[in-house]
Amino acid sequence: MLDVDIPTSLIETLNEAQAVTILTGAGVSAESGIPTFRDAMTGLWAKYEPEQLASPKAFEKEPELVTRWYDERRRLALEAEPNPGHLALARLERIFEKLGREFTLVTQNVDRLHQRAGSRRVIEVHGAVTVWHCSKCLEGNEERGGPFEKYPPVCGKCGGVRRPAVVWFGEPLPPGALDEALNAAARSDLFLSVGTSAMVYPAAGLIELIRRNHACSLEINTQETSSTHLMDWSIQGPSGEVLPKLVDLAFA
Ligand code: OAD
Ligand code: ZN
Repeated sequence: MLDVDIPTSLIETLNEAQAVTILTGAGVSAESGIPTFRDAMTGLWAKYEPEQLASPKAFEKEPELVTRWYDERRRLALEAEPNPGHLALARLERIFEKLGREFTLVTQNVDRLHQRAGSRRVIEVHGAVTVWHCSKCLEGNEERGGPFEKYPPVCGKCGGVRRPAVVWFGEPLPPGALDEALNAAARSDLFLSVGTSAMVYPAAGLIELIRRNHACSLEINTQETSSTHLMDWSIQGPSGEVLPKLVDLAFA
Protein backbone atom coordinates (compact mmCIF):
# COMPACT_ATOMS: atom_id res chain seq x y z
CA MET A 1 0.00 0.00 0.00
CA LEU A 2 1.16 3.46 -0.86
CA ASP A 3 2.67 5.33 1.99
CA VAL A 4 1.43 8.85 1.27
CA ASP A 5 -1.01 10.86 3.23
CA ILE A 6 -4.03 12.18 1.35
CA PRO A 7 -5.52 15.08 3.33
CA THR A 8 -9.22 14.88 4.25
CA SER A 9 -9.77 18.45 3.01
CA LEU A 10 -8.61 17.35 -0.46
CA ILE A 11 -10.81 14.25 -0.45
CA GLU A 12 -13.83 16.39 0.47
CA THR A 13 -13.00 19.00 -2.16
CA LEU A 14 -12.78 16.40 -4.92
CA ASN A 15 -15.99 14.76 -3.72
CA GLU A 16 -17.85 18.07 -3.89
CA ALA A 17 -16.19 19.64 -6.96
CA GLN A 18 -18.68 20.71 -9.62
CA ALA A 19 -16.09 21.19 -12.37
CA VAL A 20 -12.59 19.81 -12.47
CA THR A 21 -9.78 20.34 -14.97
CA ILE A 22 -6.83 17.95 -14.97
CA LEU A 23 -3.56 18.62 -16.75
CA THR A 24 -1.24 15.66 -17.30
CA GLY A 25 2.35 15.44 -18.50
CA ALA A 26 5.04 12.88 -19.22
CA GLY A 27 5.14 11.67 -15.59
CA VAL A 28 1.71 10.05 -15.94
CA SER A 29 3.12 7.72 -18.60
CA ALA A 30 6.41 7.03 -16.79
CA GLU A 31 4.95 3.96 -15.07
CA SER A 32 3.91 2.64 -18.49
CA GLY A 33 7.58 2.62 -19.40
CA ILE A 34 7.47 5.56 -21.81
CA PRO A 35 10.66 7.56 -21.42
CA THR A 36 10.39 11.34 -21.69
CA PHE A 37 11.62 12.87 -24.91
CA ARG A 38 14.97 13.67 -23.38
CA ASP A 39 15.34 10.34 -21.57
CA ALA A 40 14.71 8.49 -24.85
CA MET A 41 17.66 10.20 -26.47
CA THR A 42 20.15 7.42 -25.81
CA GLY A 43 22.16 5.08 -28.04
CA LEU A 44 21.83 6.12 -31.67
CA TRP A 45 20.07 9.32 -30.67
CA ALA A 46 22.45 10.46 -27.94
CA LYS A 47 24.37 12.73 -30.27
CA TYR A 48 21.36 14.96 -31.01
CA GLU A 49 19.76 17.89 -29.26
CA PRO A 50 15.92 17.82 -28.92
CA GLU A 51 15.65 20.68 -31.43
CA GLN A 52 17.50 18.54 -34.01
CA LEU A 53 14.73 15.94 -33.86
CA ALA A 54 11.62 17.93 -33.05
CA SER A 55 11.54 21.22 -34.91
CA PRO A 56 10.29 22.40 -38.32
CA LYS A 57 13.86 23.33 -39.20
CA ALA A 58 15.18 19.84 -38.47
CA PHE A 59 12.36 18.30 -40.47
CA GLU A 60 13.11 20.51 -43.44
CA LYS A 61 16.78 19.67 -43.30
CA GLU A 62 16.61 15.97 -42.46
CA PRO A 63 13.08 14.63 -42.93
CA GLU A 64 14.22 11.02 -42.94
CA LEU A 65 16.07 11.31 -39.63
CA VAL A 66 13.10 13.00 -37.98
CA THR A 67 10.70 10.39 -39.41
CA ARG A 68 12.84 7.55 -38.03
CA TRP A 69 12.97 9.18 -34.59
CA TYR A 70 9.18 9.43 -34.58
CA ASP A 71 8.91 5.80 -35.75
CA GLU A 72 10.70 4.95 -32.52
CA ARG A 73 8.51 7.24 -30.36
CA ARG A 74 5.40 5.77 -31.98
CA ARG A 75 6.59 2.20 -31.46
CA LEU A 76 7.15 2.87 -27.74
CA ALA A 77 3.71 4.46 -27.39
CA LEU A 78 1.93 1.61 -29.17
CA GLU A 79 3.79 -1.09 -27.24
CA ALA A 80 3.06 0.51 -23.86
CA GLU A 81 -0.05 -0.18 -21.80
CA PRO A 82 -2.04 2.36 -19.77
CA ASN A 83 -1.14 2.23 -16.05
CA PRO A 84 -3.42 2.54 -12.98
CA GLY A 85 -3.05 6.36 -13.10
CA HIS A 86 -4.55 6.53 -16.61
CA LEU A 87 -7.29 4.10 -15.55
CA ALA A 88 -8.14 6.14 -12.44
CA LEU A 89 -8.61 9.28 -14.56
CA ALA A 90 -10.92 7.41 -16.95
CA ARG A 91 -12.90 6.19 -13.92
CA LEU A 92 -13.10 9.72 -12.51
CA GLU A 93 -14.46 11.01 -15.84
CA ARG A 94 -17.28 8.45 -15.70
CA ILE A 95 -18.09 9.34 -12.07
CA PHE A 96 -18.31 13.03 -12.94
CA GLU A 97 -20.43 12.26 -16.00
CA LYS A 98 -22.87 10.22 -13.91
CA LEU A 99 -23.14 13.04 -11.38
CA GLY A 100 -23.77 15.55 -14.17
CA ARG A 101 -20.63 17.51 -13.30
CA GLU A 102 -17.97 18.88 -15.59
CA PHE A 103 -14.72 17.01 -16.21
CA THR A 104 -11.92 18.10 -18.54
CA LEU A 105 -8.72 16.22 -19.16
CA VAL A 106 -5.95 18.20 -20.84
CA THR A 107 -2.77 16.34 -21.75
CA GLN A 108 0.65 17.32 -23.00
CA ASN A 109 1.31 13.66 -23.79
CA VAL A 110 1.32 12.45 -27.37
CA ASP A 111 1.07 8.71 -26.60
CA ARG A 112 -2.74 8.28 -26.62
CA LEU A 113 -2.61 6.22 -23.41
CA HIS A 114 -5.43 8.22 -21.81
CA GLN A 115 -7.75 7.29 -24.67
CA ARG A 116 -6.64 3.66 -24.55
CA ALA A 117 -7.41 3.64 -20.79
CA GLY A 118 -10.99 4.68 -21.58
CA SER A 119 -10.92 8.46 -21.21
CA ARG A 120 -13.51 9.67 -23.66
CA ARG A 121 -12.77 13.34 -24.02
CA VAL A 122 -9.10 14.30 -24.05
CA ILE A 123 -7.76 17.67 -25.10
CA GLU A 124 -4.36 17.04 -26.67
CA VAL A 125 -2.38 20.26 -26.61
CA HIS A 126 0.73 18.69 -28.15
CA GLY A 127 -0.99 16.43 -30.69
CA ALA A 128 -0.50 12.67 -31.03
CA VAL A 129 2.47 10.69 -32.22
CA THR A 130 0.33 8.00 -33.84
CA VAL A 131 -1.35 10.44 -36.23
CA TRP A 132 0.43 11.53 -39.42
CA HIS A 133 -0.51 14.07 -42.02
CA CYS A 134 0.98 16.09 -44.86
CA SER A 135 3.28 18.91 -43.75
CA LYS A 136 2.16 20.99 -46.74
CA CYS A 137 -1.57 20.57 -47.26
CA LEU A 138 -2.16 19.14 -43.72
CA GLU A 139 -4.55 16.62 -45.27
CA GLY A 140 -4.68 12.84 -45.19
CA ASN A 141 -4.78 12.29 -41.41
CA GLU A 142 -3.78 8.70 -40.84
CA GLU A 143 -3.48 6.50 -37.73
CA ARG A 144 -0.04 5.03 -38.30
CA GLY A 145 1.08 1.67 -36.89
CA GLY A 146 4.32 0.24 -38.28
CA PRO A 147 7.10 1.80 -40.35
CA PHE A 148 6.60 3.45 -43.75
CA GLU A 149 7.31 1.88 -47.13
CA LYS A 150 9.41 4.80 -48.24
CA TYR A 151 11.51 7.38 -46.34
CA PRO A 152 10.48 10.09 -45.94
CA PRO A 153 6.82 9.31 -46.66
CA VAL A 154 5.16 11.72 -49.10
CA CYS A 155 1.62 12.97 -49.62
CA GLY A 156 -0.22 11.33 -52.53
CA LYS A 157 -2.09 14.55 -53.16
CA CYS A 158 0.49 17.33 -53.22
CA GLY A 159 3.86 15.59 -52.91
CA GLY A 160 4.63 17.25 -49.55
CA VAL A 161 6.47 15.24 -46.90
CA ARG A 162 4.24 13.58 -44.30
CA ARG A 163 4.90 14.35 -40.63
CA PRO A 164 3.65 13.39 -37.18
CA ALA A 165 0.72 15.52 -35.97
CA VAL A 166 2.62 16.76 -32.93
CA VAL A 167 3.67 20.20 -31.79
CA TRP A 168 7.36 20.80 -32.36
CA PHE A 169 9.69 23.26 -30.67
CA GLY A 170 8.94 26.71 -32.00
CA GLU A 171 5.46 25.78 -33.24
CA PRO A 172 2.23 27.26 -31.84
CA LEU A 173 -0.17 25.06 -29.90
CA PRO A 174 -3.36 24.09 -31.76
CA PRO A 175 -5.54 27.17 -31.02
CA GLY A 176 -8.82 25.21 -30.68
CA ALA A 177 -7.39 22.85 -28.10
CA LEU A 178 -5.77 25.65 -26.17
CA ASP A 179 -8.98 27.72 -26.01
CA GLU A 180 -10.95 24.69 -24.92
CA ALA A 181 -8.45 24.00 -22.13
CA LEU A 182 -8.40 27.60 -20.90
CA ASN A 183 -12.19 27.89 -20.96
CA ALA A 184 -12.61 24.67 -19.02
CA ALA A 185 -10.05 25.78 -16.45
CA ALA A 186 -11.83 29.11 -16.09
CA ARG A 187 -15.06 27.28 -15.16
CA SER A 188 -13.39 24.85 -12.75
CA ASP A 189 -13.42 24.91 -8.98
CA LEU A 190 -10.65 22.31 -8.79
CA PHE A 191 -7.49 21.90 -10.86
CA LEU A 192 -5.04 18.99 -10.84
CA SER A 193 -1.53 19.16 -12.27
CA VAL A 194 -0.24 15.60 -12.59
CA GLY A 195 3.20 14.39 -13.70
CA THR A 196 4.21 17.61 -15.37
CA SER A 197 7.11 19.91 -14.67
CA ALA A 198 4.54 22.63 -15.49
CA MET A 199 7.20 24.93 -16.84
CA VAL A 200 6.13 25.37 -20.44
CA TYR A 201 2.97 26.96 -21.70
CA PRO A 202 0.08 26.06 -21.38
CA ALA A 203 0.79 24.47 -17.99
CA ALA A 204 2.06 27.68 -16.48
CA GLY A 205 -0.85 29.66 -17.99
CA LEU A 206 -3.47 27.27 -16.65
CA ILE A 207 -2.03 27.50 -13.14
CA GLU A 208 -2.03 31.29 -13.31
CA LEU A 209 -5.67 31.33 -14.42
CA ILE A 210 -6.71 28.96 -11.63
CA ARG A 211 -5.03 31.13 -9.03
CA ARG A 212 -6.70 34.26 -10.36
CA ASN A 213 -10.08 32.52 -10.02
CA HIS A 214 -9.32 31.29 -6.49
CA ALA A 215 -10.04 27.70 -7.51
CA CYS A 216 -8.45 24.89 -5.52
CA SER A 217 -5.34 23.20 -6.84
CA LEU A 218 -3.46 19.96 -6.34
CA GLU A 219 -0.14 18.80 -7.69
CA ILE A 220 0.81 15.13 -7.94
CA ASN A 221 4.45 14.60 -8.83
CA THR A 222 7.34 12.43 -7.72
CA GLN A 223 9.37 15.60 -7.23
CA GLU A 224 8.96 19.19 -6.25
CA THR A 225 8.41 21.52 -9.22
CA SER A 226 8.55 25.26 -9.73
CA SER A 227 4.75 25.31 -9.23
CA THR A 228 4.57 23.27 -6.03
CA HIS A 229 4.50 26.33 -3.80
CA LEU A 230 1.53 27.77 -5.73
CA MET A 231 -0.71 24.77 -5.00
CA ASP A 232 -3.20 24.24 -2.17
CA TRP A 233 -2.12 20.62 -1.90
CA SER A 234 0.92 18.79 -3.16
CA ILE A 235 1.31 15.04 -3.01
CA GLN A 236 4.73 13.63 -3.67
CA GLY A 237 4.42 10.17 -5.18
CA PRO A 238 3.94 8.24 -8.41
CA SER A 239 0.67 9.13 -10.13
CA GLY A 240 -0.04 5.44 -10.82
CA GLU A 241 -0.40 4.94 -7.09
CA VAL A 242 -1.69 8.31 -5.88
CA LEU A 243 -4.53 8.75 -8.42
CA PRO A 244 -6.31 5.41 -7.79
CA LYS A 245 -6.08 5.96 -4.04
CA LEU A 246 -7.45 9.51 -4.31
CA VAL A 247 -10.41 8.46 -6.50
CA ASP A 248 -11.16 5.53 -4.15
CA LEU A 249 -11.14 7.78 -1.09
CA ALA A 250 -13.27 10.51 -2.67
CA PHE A 251 -15.89 8.22 -4.19
CA ALA A 252 -15.80 5.05 -2.08
P1 OAD B 1 8.58 16.77 -18.24
O1 OAD B 1 9.50 15.68 -18.70
O2 OAD B 1 9.01 18.18 -18.30
O3 OAD B 1 8.16 16.49 -16.73
C1 OAD B 1 7.74 15.24 -16.26
C2 OAD B 1 7.37 15.40 -14.79
O4 OAD B 1 6.86 14.17 -14.32
C3 OAD B 1 8.54 15.76 -13.88
O5 OAD B 1 8.18 16.88 -13.09
C4 OAD B 1 8.74 14.50 -13.01
O6 OAD B 1 9.14 14.81 -11.69
C5 OAD B 1 7.35 13.92 -13.03
N1 OAD B 1 7.26 12.46 -12.85
C6 OAD B 1 8.11 11.49 -13.28
N2 OAD B 1 7.64 10.26 -12.99
C7 OAD B 1 6.45 10.45 -12.35
C8 OAD B 1 5.46 9.58 -11.81
N3 OAD B 1 5.59 8.24 -11.85
N4 OAD B 1 4.36 10.14 -11.23
C9 OAD B 1 4.22 11.48 -11.18
N5 OAD B 1 5.11 12.35 -11.69
C10 OAD B 1 6.21 11.85 -12.26
O7 OAD B 1 7.24 16.52 -19.02
P2 OAD B 1 6.07 17.52 -19.33
O8 OAD B 1 5.78 18.40 -18.18
O9 OAD B 1 4.98 16.70 -19.91
O10 OAD B 1 7.58 19.68 -25.23
O11 OAD B 1 6.71 18.38 -20.49
C11 OAD B 1 5.93 19.18 -21.28
C12 OAD B 1 6.63 19.45 -22.56
O12 OAD B 1 7.95 19.93 -22.35
C13 OAD B 1 6.85 18.24 -23.42
O13 OAD B 1 5.73 17.94 -24.19
C14 OAD B 1 8.00 18.67 -24.28
C15 OAD B 1 8.87 19.28 -23.22
O14 OAD B 1 9.78 20.18 -23.68
C16 OAD B 1 7.71 19.45 -26.56
O15 OAD B 1 8.16 18.41 -27.01
C17 OAD B 1 7.28 20.58 -27.44
ZN1 ZN C 1 -0.26 17.15 -49.14
